[in-house]
Amino acid sequence: MKILFIGSRLFDDVEPYIRNKDITSIVTESNKNADNLDLADEVFIGPRGMVFPYNVAIEQNVSGIVPLIGIDPPLVDVASMKEKIEEEYGIPVASSCVKPVRIAANKSKTKELYNSIGLNTPESVYLKKEDLDNFEDMIHSKGFDYPVVLKQNAGQGGKDISIVEDFEGVKKYFEEFDEGLCENFIEGAEISIETVGWKDNYYTFVPVYKGDTSVNGSHPITRVRYGPANIDGLDNEEVRQTALKIAKTLKIEGNMDLDFIFDRKAKKLYSIEANTRPSGTRYLTFAITNVNPLHKLVDMVTGEFDVNKIANEVENHYCAEVPVGTFEGEIPEKTYNNDYIVHGPVGYQRVTVRADSVDELIKKVKDITGKDIEIHN
Ligand SMILES: Nc1ncnc2c1ncn2[C@@H]1O[C@H](COP(=O)(O)OP(=O)(O)O)[C@@H](O)[C@H]1O
Ligand SMILES: [Mg+2]
Repeated sequence: MKILFIGSRLFDDVEPYIRNKDITSIVTESNKNADNLDLADEVFIGPRGMVFPYNVAIEQNVSGIVPLIGIDPPLVDVASMKEKIEEEYGIPVASSCVKPVRIAANKSKTKELYNSIGLNTPESVYLKKEDLDNFEDMIHSKGFDYPVVLKQNAGQGGKDISIVEDFEGVKKYFEEFDEGLCENFIEGAEISIETVGWKDNYYTFVPVYKGDTSVNGSHPITRVRYGPANIDGLDNEEVRQTALKIAKTLKIEGNMDLDFIFDRKAKKLYSIEANTRPSGTRYLTFAITNVNPLHKLVDMVTGEFDVNKIANEVENHYCAEVPVGTFEGEIPEKTYNNDYIVHGPVGYQRVTVRADSVDELIKKVKDITGKDIEIHN
């Protein structure tokens, strides 16, 4: 069976999974010097965008397409291509359709959806630069005050986000942007969970903890993260049920990562945003459960996706993920055969470590990365 993978950068996640399967891998890529091209059976280099992979899929008569795209901007294009090629040629594509992608790609639309299904999301106002004179009245009428979080509807990795403590900060933000979303700052534990979905069947994995929010505004990708989340007052099953509700409402296909903040004092779970693409938290999910959500994308297009099978496969390990800058040791392939995975670009690498108890985890992190970590909730 021939499967087309769009983009080679994440292909080393799935290659170990398909190695012993009867699958011929075709990878399309726009950068002829990209990583992992040597891992594919066949490589096609062509222009950016979805026209090229669409044509390769048809010419090569592939049985399915797995987009391996970890950034937001191309996702609507991927979704349009999916709708077209599934409709015209019946070639399945392991990603979401246009509607859920458009909602998830826009933080205001995501919040509207959350409100419409009764989930908590931080109070907010959407502002244009002209409205700045009424700023404080507007936020007070919604029942919140400084600090506030200013963000753009589109963005990832903390891009264009600012946490400000006074009107000076707000004015400064709007020197750069003509409009933006202003949210109540929620103090609490940041949680993520991943979900996979295919043809109305969904599986939600396990909540992971990414550190607490702070007004200094460090993004969770710069923090030590670990899982499963074990936060006083937070029921992991509630997080899973919330994720399931969102996945069903959006009718996602492929995978989705959801971000939450748990207000420890009010014991309230706030839904922040949704990403309908492979996410950085997958190595934590993989470490804990022994299931890499990206492997399930392959199952979707081979016809083997089965949520009961996933439920039976899922294991329960502990994991921690530590930013290391540049990893000094040997970098193994992306499986947990060696109990750790190193990922990310040189200079910003992270090491995700698996263990079977908290004590063992702390020791392994020290042995592998040289770092001392504390696990506290
Ligand atoms: N309402 C909020 N209260 C507190 N911190 C927030 C809030 N919104 C965002 N943040 C902080 O900014 C980070 C990035 O915000 P998010 O909306 O997830 O955008 P991105 O797409 O850049 O990840 C969050 O992980 C959190 O640390
Ligand atoms: Mg986020």
